[in-house]
Amino acid sequence: MRRTLSPKEVAALVEAASRARTNAYAPYSQFKVGAAVVCDDGRVYTGCNVENASYGLSLCAERAAVAAAVLHGSKQVLALALVAAASPAARPCGACLQWLAEFGAGDMQVLMADAAGEVEKATLVNLLPQAFRLPNP
Ligand code: THU
Repeated sequence: MRRTLSPKEVAALVEAASRARTNAYAPYSQFKVGAAVVCDDGRVYTGCNVENASYGLSLCAERAAVAAAVLHGSKQVLALALVAAASPAARPCGACLQWLAEFGAGDMQVLMADAAGEVEKATLVNLLPQAFRLPNP
């Protein structure tokens, strides 16, 4: 099921990401991030970044949200919202884009909200034109 989110659905997904951001654990970078994904079954899952004293072990908000979706049996992401206090709006990092490519199509909508709540839109294939794929056996 591929479809464009209505303005109301966009607002709800950004709001869910924004709420998740309030639980971000970012004592090292102070950069709090919230993410929300909506799946083809209509369910929404959220995540926040979780940092670690061993900095490289920090988990991004997007991967936390995708892991929550998979945990609950949803494996087809239609859209992702990302909220952070950045201007221009923060983009998902390369590792998160590759995770999104595992569980969604190139036309996945990526909604990136900046510090003022302004939402920029892109598709996954715009942000990651050539995702890694394992060769077919
Ligand atoms: N971060 C995310 O949560 N998502 C991204 O796509 C990029 C970065 C987090 C990781 C770290 O906790 C903080 O932002 C600063 O890099």
